[in-house]
Amino acid sequence: RSFGTPGPGYLAYIPGGGVFPAALADFISATTNRYTGIWQAAPALVQLEANALDWLRDAMQFPPEARGLFTPGGSMAMFNAIACAREKLLGTEIRTGTVFVSSQAHHSIAKAARLAGIAHDRVRTIDVDGNYRMRIDALQHAIERDRGDGLKPFMVFSTAGTTNTGAVDPLDAIADVAAREGLWHHVDGAYGGCFHLVPELRHLLAGLPRADSLTLDPHKGLFLPYGTGALLVRNGEDLRALHASHAGYLPDNQLEFYDPAQYGPDLSRGFPGLRVWMCLKIFGAARYRAAIAEKRELAVWAAQQIAAIPGIVMDALPQLSLFAFHLEGKGLDTLDAQNQATRELMERVTRRGKVMLTGAQVGERFLGRVCVLSFRTRRAEMETCVQHLVEEAAALVAQAAEQT
Ligand SMILES: Cc1ncc(COP(=O)(O)O)c(C=O)c1O
Repeated sequence: RSFGTPGPGYLAYIPGGGVFPAALADFISATTNRYTGIWQAAPALVQLEANALDWLRDAMQFPPEARGLFTPGGSMAMFNAIACAREKLLGTEIRTGTVFVSSQAHHSIAKAARLAGIAHDRVRTIDVDGNYRMRIDALQHAIERDRGDGLKPFMVFSTAGTTNTGAVDPLDAIADVAAREGLWHHVDGAYGGCFHLVPELRHLLAGLPRADSLTLDPHKGLFLPYGTGALLVRNGEDLRALHASHAGYLPDNQLEFYDPAQYGPDLSRGFPGLRVWMCLKIFGAARYRAAIAEKRELAVWAAQQIAAIPGIVMDALPQLSLFAFHLEGKGLDTLDAQNQATRELMERVTRRGKVMLTGAQVGERFLGRVCVLSFRTRRAEMETCVQHLVEEAAALVAQAAEQT
């Protein structure tokens, strides 16, 4: 009863990838089994990983002193970011520290906070505006309230593409608040960060390169298999200060080259960088950019078609490649009835077996959603998606009207 995330009709949650050369890279990594915790043990291979991170750093317009880390996913990138900020800004006094997230932020942030010793009563949830973006006035107010209570606000998380509706927080304005208030600004780009690879789409993520740290998920936006996340930290020394440690049986820590074990929690580790490096080399950055731009175009086109379906009300237009909507109509007058019909719409379309859709509960409302990010998704799947939504929405609206 599993579902096939690499399929072209997978428009649910946030699609993942599964490009073929990544499997070859894993095969090579596993069979050569080189030790990549420290540069000296496998200089050429570790340098490939460093180069892949540098490529991400440059694509995100982070400065040369930024350093990064490949992680198993976005959640672990978030955990390392919060540990890094905590170490730098709180030191040993962690109990007074507070962090700020929007009500639409991914739940992995609160979990990462907990793992990093920031308890739930120190995580502040900030309201969003009508477009599901963090409200700056509410953020400012929450920071002031904490300061008034003798607490120490130290970190704000913004999201470049939320999972529920694809909203991009006002990254520039949040960066301004963070700079003014001395907070660490982390951008969660697990879903949306990849759109920054496309120069023509960068304006949608304005302010992203100002972040102190950034979560990326190449297993989403670079179409790699699960198990490929990444973290970039603006001042690489901050990441190193958290992780660098030494043992008598190891060679001295060196500063000249990138030692993964000095920038991340693992010592013995696999070789995730090869997946990224090989796919970039084989496909080339230009093909990645074209594929990512195509996903956005498909989402924009589909959203226009779906907005015109009788009964569909658009709640969130595609800021990137994800949009959300609900169903209304005669007999669907209450929120409960609309939620139930919208849920049923997602299920009926999915049951037809060609495209898979999932919804999300956002506050009181259940939203239907479409997210385009599978490298195999093309216009044909989007046409099927639209057609099935047209037919199932019509059936549901007619059924509700009959029952009144
Ligand atoms: C916006 C966002 N942030 C964070 C995550 C967590 O990333 P991962 O599942 O790779 O740990 C997700 C995952 O789906 C996400 O959509």
